[in-house]
Amino acid sequence: MEVPPVFVCVCNAINDRTVREILATGGGGVDTPAAIHRAAGCKPQCGRCLPEMAGMIRETQTASAFAKAAD
Ligand code: FES
Repeated sequence: MEVPPVFVCVCNAINDRTVREILATGGGGVDTPAAIHRAAGCKPQCGRCLPEMAGMIRETQTASAFAKAAD
């Protein structure tokens, strides 16, 4: 059973799948929550999503570093 998407940014209706897709296709250039918003075509508003997005960026960077180390 597929897990439904979860909103990360309620103000801009950005869900976790969209964030992960942006991070996966950003080639490392998307390294801040503001960059995620820009890639999604919007701007941060209330800012409550910024810590969650920062955590998702760190996860992606850590996974990428492990993948490079394993090469
Ligand atoms: S939840 Fe993202 S700006 Fe408000």
